[in-house]
Amino acid sequence: MECSGRLLFYCSLILSLAALALADDPYFECGFVEDRGNYTANSSYQANLNRIVSQLSSLTEFNYGFFNLSAGESPDEVKAIALCTGDRTQDECNSCLHRTATELIQRCPWHKEATAWSEFCLVRYANRDIFGQLESEPRTCAFNTRKASNPVQFNDGLSELLNNLSNIAAAGGPLRKYAAGNATAGNLQTIYAAVQCTPDMDKQNCTHCLDDGKAEFLNCCYGRIGCRVLRPTCILRFESNPFYHTAVPLPSLPPSPTPPGPTTSPTSIGG
Ligand SMILES: *[C@@H]1O[C@H](CO)[C@@H](O)[C@H](O)[C@H]1NC(C)=O
Ligand SMILES: *[C@@H]1O[C@H](CO)[C@@H](O)[C@H](O)[C@H]1NC(C)=O
Ligand SMILES: *[C@@H]1O[C@H](CO)[C@@H](O)[C@H](O)[C@H]1NC(C)=O
Ligand SMILES: *[C@@H]1O[C@H](CO)[C@@H](O)[C@H](O)[C@H]1NC(C)=O
Ligand SMILES: *[C@@H]1O[C@H](CO)[C@@H](O)[C@H](O)[C@H]1NC(C)=O
Ligand SMILES: *[C@@H]1O[C@H](CO)[C@@H](O)[C@H](O)[C@H]1NC(C)=O
Repeated sequence: MECSGRLLFYCSLILSLAALALADDPYFECGFVEDRGNYTANSSYQANLNRIVSQLSSLTEFNYGFFNLSAGESPDEVKAIALCTGDRTQDECNSCLHRTATELIQRCPWHKEATAWSEFCLVRYANRDIFGQLESEPRTCAFNTRKASNPVQFNDGLSELLNNLSNIAAAGGPLRKYAAGNATAGNLQTIYAAVQCTPDMDKQNCTHCLDDGKAEFLNCCYGRIGCRVLRPTCILRFESNPFYHTAVPLPSLPPSPTPPGPTTSPTSIGG
């Protein structure tokens, strides 16, 4: 069971309610920035948001789990970004995105701009351009309430692993910026970790996001046996059990710069 860093107070309540709410994804978190505007019931913005959810329910391309969507016309245009973790198949990705987008609208309602993270995917929407923008809000952190028995060694092993994975992820191409791996900490315990940026980040912005995320580990994740740092443009996670699958293979040839084929740019669904 995870508890949110921002909702510590509610943690025990959530734990006791968890049994009553089996349908809810225990990994789901959502967030918003307070002053970015609200939409009202039956507005065009709400209709466009619903169109984004339908788009996310009827994706036909896989695109390695990354989608850049929009619906409607300014000033009610909704822009969205959706990302699945690099180890999810197309079916797993589609169902995660549909569930997460639906739950986002229900659990963080009326905000023109909001972000949700579930175990295997991330969904964001806004009434402005968000593609390629490094962002640090909203963010949260969700940790396992169990503590590591040897926090110092655990953290040393984890830091080195996260640094290695961050370098690999940031150097990933435009299709995917993801890395997962394991390390041995004190007591010969194995730590499993994965990090990922939305692939619209360039190497520098991805590194920046992951560096900020690693700094947050010290605040919220220190001494825990599992934790997720959740940001709008990158996610970091570690556990004491192997939680990831083999990454979905990317095309073996690097995408050629000219001409850009359909698989080299993120799917853009207008409307
Ligand atoms: C937007 O909605 C939230 C939640 O319903 C509310 O707390 C907030 O005051 C609203 N903000 C504005 C600017 O209306
Ligand atoms: C929105 O539309 C529904 C169905 O047409 C209606 O029942 C409801 O009163 C409307 N709400 C607002 C705030 O206009
Ligand atoms: C992403 O979607 C926006 C529309 O919201 C579009 O203007 C932009 O060109 C798209 N970017 C890419 C790289 O597909
Ligand atoms: C990095 O993020 C910043 C802040 O959003 C943005 O202005 C900049 O264009 C991004 N850099 C690149 C190369 O995409
Ligand atoms: C990190 O990378 C270095 C250099 O490739 C390697 O020697 C080390 O074993 C790696 N450590 C972990 C924890 O992955
Ligand atoms: C840890 O990662 C290595 C590759 O770096 C892999 O060979 C090994 O099987 C993994 N160990 C476990 C326990 O998953």
